[in-house]
Amino acid sequence: MATINGEVQQTQPARHQEVGHKSLLQSDALYQYILETSVYPREPEVMKELRDVTAKHPWNLMTTSADEGQFLNLLLKLINAKNTMEIGVYTGYSLLATALALPEDGKILAMDINRENFELGLPVIQKAGVAHKIDFREGPALPLLDQLLEDGKHGSFDFIFVDADKDNYLNYHKRLIDLVKVGGVIGYDNTLWNGSVVAPPDAPLRKYVRYYRDFVMELNKALAVDPRIEICQLPVGDGITLCRRIS
Ligand SMILES: C[S@@+](CC[C@H](N)C(=O)[O-])C[C@H]1O[C@@H](n2cnc3c(N)ncnc32)[C@H](O)[C@@H]1O
Repeated sequence: MATINGEVQQTQPARHQEVGHKSLLQSDALYQYILETSVYPREPEVMKELRDVTAKHPWNLMTTSADEGQFLNLLLKLINAKNTMEIGVYTGYSLLATALALPEDGKILAMDINRENFELGLPVIQKAGVAHKIDFREGPALPLLDQLLEDGKHGSFDFIFVDADKDNYLNYHKRLIDLVKVGGVIGYDNTLWNGSVVAPPDAPLRKYVRYYRDFVMELNKALAVDPRIEICQLPVGDGITLCRRIS
């Protein structure tokens, strides 16, 4: 999900100064600079088209940001990903970023409870010539993951991107750690959750931000001590934590 300019962000600069933090994203202007200098000029036309389609949808704040799309696309190429999974598709911006990065015979098992939004972006994905890489499954992800484990798909995914219901992230992790291969990567999105992970207890957070915040913080704590993975939490988009399975 893209970073939202909300009330929580106003608490961040003070925190940054307090800890002498050298985040790249010290201002909105700097973020715009990244987008305009390095992201938009290189964004494939079909991804821009999908971004424009999504911008007209009422839930467009959910979409993956263009800089994060670019990051995912490059990461997938760097790790030579072929068999991937995505939990949380919406209109498909991160899905398209993934599909464009995979080889012709690459695969994405894509899950979302809402097919309608996926179908909104599907014509653009088809136009991009990558729809054949996508196996879309409608429904809640947890039972689908259990089915994959029952079917013996342990260790078969090179990359898994998780961008759906934050209150299930730890439940996803319990299953995904078995489904990703050793050396493969899981990316958990929104791990800085609008900056709310550092908001004081009395901060005026939006209801949904407050609700999911504790789940995100629990996940962050659990990932930090999980000996089965190496991690790196990046301030890209709304925060993405990459987990490389090591055992
Ligand atoms: C933040 S959006 C995903 C954004 C998407 N990655 C993109 O690039 O636009 C979250 C999505 O998760 C889906 N979702 C919510 N709960 C889910 C669940 N239990 N299983 C699968 N998908 C779910 C929602 O329908 C929504 O489309």
